[in-house]
Amino acid sequence: MLKILLLGNTGQLGWELQRTLQPLGEVIALDYPEVNMADAASIRKTVQQHRPEVIVNATAYTAVDKAESEPELAEAINGTGPGVLAEEARKLNAVFIHYSTDYVFDGQKGVPYIEEDTPNPLSVYGRSKLEGERLVQEVGGVYLILRTSWVYSLRQGGFVNKVLEWARQQETLRVVSNQVANPTWARMLAEMTAQILARGDDYIHERTGLYHLAGSGFASRFEWAKSILELDPNKSEQRVEEILPALASDFPSPAQRPLFSALDCSLFERIFNLRLPAWQEALRLAI
Ligand SMILES: NC(=O)c1ccc[n+]([C@@H]2O[C@H](COP(=O)([O-])OP(=O)(O)OC[C@H]3O[C@@H](n4cnc5c(N)ncnc54)[C@H](OP(=O)(O)O)[C@@H]3O)[C@@H](O)[C@H]2O)c1
Repeated sequence: MLKILLLGNTGQLGWELQRTLQPLGEVIALDYPEVNMADAASIRKTVQQHRPEVIVNATAYTAVDKAESEPELAEAINGTGPGVLAEEARKLNAVFIHYSTDYVFDGQKGVPYIEEDTPNPLSVYGRSKLEGERLVQEVGGVYLILRTSWVYSLRQGGFVNKVLEWARQQETLRVVSNQVANPTWARMLAEMTAQILARGDDYIHERTGLYHLAGSGFASRFEWAKSILELDPNKSEQRVEEILPALASDFPSPAQRPLFSALDCSLFERIFNLRLPAWQEALRLAI
C-alpha cells in the first residue's frame, strides 16, 4: 500500500483527491496552515516528517485577479514552492504529481494548444504557474505535471455554482462568449490521477513529463452557462428569463485572461490510454 502525501485537501481538486486516493493506501492530507507552500522550510519539514512514496500537490494561489496585487505571494506558492516540493520528492525517490493551467498561454493560437506550444502568460497567476512547471521539470525525478483548465466543483465556489446562484437572483444573465477553454470537473481529474497512480511508479517513471488533461471538447463561458441552466435540477427556482452573450472587455478585471486557451489532450490519451469525458457529459454527471 502506498503512503501518499496530499497537499491542499480543502481546495476544489484536493477535496476530490482526498476521496479518490483512499483506495490506494494511506493518505496524509494537509492544507494551510499545517503546511505553508509559501515557506520552503515548512514544505521540507512536512515531507521529511512523513517520508511519503507519492506527493500530490493540489495547492495553488488561484485568485487570478488578486494575484496582480500580490505577485510575490503568488510566485512563492505557485512557483518556488512546487520547486522545493519536487526537490524533496526527488530525495525520497517519490512520485510527484503537480497541476498547472491553460493560463500559461496567451490565447492567440486559435486552435487547441498542445504541450509543445510556447507559453506566453498574460497574468501574474499564469507566470507564477509557468515558473512552477519550469522548476519541477528542472528538478526532474519521477513527476507528472497535468495542465488543466476551468476546474469546477459543485461543493464550493466556482463557475457552476455561481451561474446557478445568478439564475436565482437575476432575470437577465450576461455571460462572456469570447473566452473559450475546457470545463473540467475536479472529480474527474482526481479519478484520473488515482487511476494513473494505481499503475505504479515504474509505469509513471517511463512517462514522466508534462501533459494536457482537461474535459474533452471546449466551450465559451456563455455556452457553458447555457448548459448549466439546462441541467439545473431545480429549474423552477430560476428567475432568469434570458441569457445574453457579452464580451470579456465588458467586465474589466485586474488580470488579463487568454481568449482561446482550449487544451488538446490527445498526447495524454495516447500515452495513458485514458481521457476525460466530453465536458457536457461530465457536467451532467456533476449536476
Ligand atoms: N480553478 C481553476 O479553474 C483552475 C484552472 C486551471 C488549473 N487549475 C490548477 O488546478 C489545481 C487545483 O486548483 P483548485 O481549483 O482546486 O484550487 P483551489 O480550490 O483554489 O484550492 C487551492 C488549495 O491550495 C491551498 N493553499 C493556498 N495557499 C496555500 C499555502 N500558502 N500553503 C498551503 N496551501 C495553500 C488552499 O487553501 P486555503 O483555501 O486555505 O487557502 C486550497 O486548499 C491548481 O494547481 C490550479 O492552479 C485550476
